[in-house]
Amino acid sequence: MAKVQSLRTQFLLRLALPLALFVVLDAIASYYIAFHYANAAYDRWLLDSARSLAQEVKAQKGKVTFELPPTALEIFQWDEVDQTFFKIESSRHGFMAGDKRVPPPPDLASVRDQPVYFDSMIQNHSVRVVSMLATPKDSSEEVLVQVAETIRKRRSMMTDILLAELVPQFLLVFGAGLYIWIGINRGLHPLNTLTREIAQRSPRDLAPIPDTGVPLEVLTLTHTINDLLARLSTAITAQQRFIANAAHQLRTPLAGLKVQAERALRETELATMRPALAQIRNCADRASRLSTQLLVLARSETALGGPRPGSRADLRAIARDACMDWVPRALQRDMDLSFEGPQAPVYVQGEETLLRELLNNLLDNAIRYGRDHGQITVRLAADSHPCLIVEDDGPGIPDSEADRIFERFYRPPGSPGDGCGLGLAIVKEIAEQHDARVRLSRSDHGGARIEVLFQDREPFF
Ligand SMILES: Nc1ncnc2c1ncn2[C@@H]1O[C@H](COP(=O)(O)OP(=O)(O)O)[C@@H](O)[C@H]1O
Ligand SMILES: [Mg+2]
Repeated sequence: MAKVQSLRTQFLLRLALPLALFVVLDAIASYYIAFHYANAAYDRWLLDSARSLAQEVKAQKGKVTFELPPTALEIFQWDEVDQTFFKIESSRHGFMAGDKRVPPPPDLASVRDQPVYFDSMIQNHSVRVVSMLATPKDSSEEVLVQVAETIRKRRSMMTDILLAELVPQFLLVFGAGLYIWIGINRGLHPLNTLTREIAQRSPRDLAPIPDTGVPLEVLTLTHTINDLLARLSTAITAQQRFIANAAHQLRTPLAGLKVQAERALRETELATMRPALAQIRNCADRASRLSTQLLVLARSETALGGPRPGSRADLRAIARDACMDWVPRALQRDMDLSFEGPQAPVYVQGEETLLRELLNNLLDNAIRYGRDHGQITVRLAADSHPCLIVEDDGPGIPDSEADRIFERFYRPPGSPGDGCGLGLAIVKEIAEQHDARVRLSRSDHGGARIEVLFQDREPFF
């Protein structure tokens, strides 16, 4: 089963996640920038201290000295947070003053060009060290001045920056996420309402779903559903009418059966019973024909969506066989039934049994409603669009009936015989299943002509 995706989660993932990522990247970037400037400020202070120590390096009679009054030293080393160390070293005489633990610069040569900063350790404490060279007047001696300071202030400043950066940023993401969440829920609300509305419906209620206050995106959905409901409603109404009509039609032969059976029961002699028995047979015939017709209609309707793909039928064989089947019935009325068609098969995409049923109904009508001693012709025109024609030379169907004659259960008033008005409806249904058009016209002799025009001819092989 495919995994069901939540629209809400998708929105959140696509909006809030990138936002959070962006904020984190932004926090990291601004942290590093702030860290860089803060470090630069502390470094300058460190260098200032080294310079003021360097000023105390003096040369007297060629001898380099360094003297710092104890009070100045105290002020220099006084710091609440960090510990400060210094070291003064001469190139010639070595260590002069300060703290020997201050580590030498990694590259002494580069100190000649400019002060050098580096990170190191004193007594397990991380320190930042600046080294510079002092060359007192009147002396060629080089004196290395170094000041080191533990980095607690820098660290606590970094933590402050981090907190000042991250707390508002995370509040921002949280607020934005909450806002998005509320927005999504509000946006999805119409869908929930729609779901509730449809779920609460009784299966009989096919009224359109209300679409007032529905946003545009959901409106398309409601319109589609309403469209479907409307079509369902039409189909169900038609179905109900059909069932009512079918029941009504079945009642007539059944009532006839009952009346004739009672009539036969009143007789004692077989001879006097016979007419009633004959009527019983007629009624049974009629009921059986009606139920066959109903079945055919149901079958052609369930073949919804047309014939199975790839199924094909030879119209010529169907027409020829049907004519042969109906010749005996035609002969009973002394009618001439003939078939005109090509020599080769004419294939169309379709179901053979349904097409045979279509032709049976047309021939049944022609023989029923045609004239005694008349002529019935079944013609197959095999162009690129094959056309099946059944025509007779009887009274024909009046033009005024052309619109309704294909309706189910419709028979023009005064129609002879005891049909139920389903024949032409079946013809139309089967034709539609095969994408074919049915046309009613008059034959050259004034009789009825029904044409079934197919769309495309299937290739011979
Ligand atoms: N070939 C025809 N000639 C004259 N009338 C016809 C012909 N075919 C059909 N009709 C008329 O159309 C009506 C409907 O035909 P149909 O749908 O087959 O139902 P049924 O045959 O059961 O009456 C018939 O009752 C008849 O009046
Ligand atoms: Mg008929």
